[in-house]
Amino acid sequence: SFDYKLQPHSTIPAPEGPLMVCILDGFGENEFKDEYNAVHVATTPTIDALRAVPKRFRTIKAHGTAVGLPSDADMGNSEVGHNALGSGQVVDQGARLVDMALETGKMFEGDGWKLISQAFSKHTVHFIGLLSDGGVHSRADQLFGCLRGAAARGAQRIRCHVLTDGRDVPDGSSVKYVEELEAVLAELREKGCDARIASGGGRMKVTMDRYEADWSMVKRGWDAHVLGKAPYTFTDAKTAVTTLRGPEDATVSDQYLDAFVIVDEAGAPVGTIEDGDAVVLFNFRADRMVEISKAFEYQDFTTFDRERYPVGLRFVGMMQYDGDLKLPANYLVPPPEILHVSGEFLVKNGITTFACSETQKFGHVTFFWNGNRSGYLDAKLEQYLEIPSDKIEFNKAPDMKAREITAASKEAILSGKYKVIRVNFANPDMVGHTGDLAATIRAVETVDACVKELLETVDQVNGRWIVTADHGNADDMVQRDKKGKPMKAEDGKPLPLTSHTLAPVPFFIGGKGLPDGVVLRDDVPDAGLANVASTTFNLLGYEAPGIYKPTMVQMAA
Ligand code: 3PG
Ligand code: CO
Repeated sequence: SFDYKLQPHSTIPAPEGPLMVCILDGFGENEFKDEYNAVHVATTPTIDALRAVPKRFRTIKAHGTAVGLPSDADMGNSEVGHNALGSGQVVDQGARLVDMALETGKMFEGDGWKLISQAFSKHTVHFIGLLSDGGVHSRADQLFGCLRGAAARGAQRIRCHVLTDGRDVPDGSSVKYVEELEAVLAELREKGCDARIASGGGRMKVTMDRYEADWSMVKRGWDAHVLGKAPYTFTDAKTAVTTLRGPEDATVSDQYLDAFVIVDEAGAPVGTIEDGDAVVLFNFRADRMVEISKAFEYQDFTTFDRERYPVGLRFVGMMQYDGDLKLPANYLVPPPEILHVSGEFLVKNGITTFACSETQKFGHVTFFWNGNRSGYLDAKLEQYLEIPSDKIEFNKAPDMKAREITAASKEAILSGKYKVIRVNFANPDMVGHTGDLAATIRAVETVDACVKELLETVDQVNGRWIVTADHGNADDMVQRDKKGKPMKAEDGKPLPLTSHTLAPVPFFIGGKGLPDGVVLRDDVPDAGLANVASTTFNLLGYEAPGIYKPTMVQMAA
């Protein structure tokens, strides 16, 4: 059995007060310091002061191979970012594991594939997921690989249910991805497979809710994909997407398109999900697939009325999304194994933790932090507090629940009950994803003010703190050409960037209880998010677990 015992640090004494680890979600340190960098433009006296402290500020890598993604062209995201922060290790993540399973052909040999192949000759195989090449939740080329693989192995009838993106990729690109998918489906039809798009909708409106923020999204998805019911019907998906976006100056963004169903000339849906059919959720990322998985997997599901539950479904996820719930039971590619996460070391050494965020990021500091496990590691030693998020587009209320998170976390810091306080502020990310520059600047300013309050509170109890981020987003709000020049639409308006960025993130240490001699090392220039966990243990006065990436701190001689 694995030895979880932590040893006292040889030179860094344990703190009197708690250690706070504060994550500014989507707050990058971007090389483009112009008017489109909301982190740069915002008035941030707190963070500015932290940047000015010698040997206690640096940047760390938060994208690409540093967080287990296929290449350094992949932007970071909250799943892989919080996995790395919480586990102190870099593992091959879903995007890469699916690539490898397709390359080696292992995809088509596993139990999950065997299950869906039972539907190939007499039933329909349905693929449901996010249609883009964002590489955060899914990738279109992986969907295409699965579609071709199914048709080549005898699938007679395929239906795709597509969720439009515009959040990990530029808004408006959904039309292009639908065209690409239609081309692949046409190619399959040539070969005798009856393959079509059957339903869809925007990812922030249909199917892809997370952390139970709004189950009505999942119901809209169920109704469209399974029952063939939606507010809008069209005879083809490209018309659906372009019509729902609205005329010219698109009034509705890809993320928020209403649910739609594709119908035949007689008005009948072309691809409802029927008894005996196979259903594949083709997203590899977990958070936004858990709820729809429950609706498909659980016989006795009651969260909303499914109206009709197909008998004998052959249901698989691209991966298993929740390691605690073993959900779904069947999957195409085994998920990354994230073992010996930092939370396990904490609870096995009797160290108490308080973790807090609002709904939209709650699972980030619990579920993702703990290696995609949904429960407490030890409920006696941990307290997870969720502040309910607003159910609106976040540029309309860019302060989100930052003040409430701050108030709850201050109380936890002052209570003396917790040795570790873990907080995530969602604002720079969630508002950044709307592409609204002014609102994102406001989001960053709000978070700066909240961080100030938290640092002062930690100081009151002689504690220590780490302030960092999981990936960039607010730090660049405009699409740029290869040379970095902001791109403009024909009308001269800048083209908004809704996605994350490739930027590194800031890493700050400090606190009244941190001895002056504790400083950042200068011999780990390539450090990334996975180096944070070791650092955390050192600041708690322990040596870091040997299996973790090296620490970034030392006690100066
Ligand atoms: C989302 O799911 O909202 C985006 O695709 C990614 O954002 P996150 O990785 O910051 O959650
Ligand atoms: Co994000």
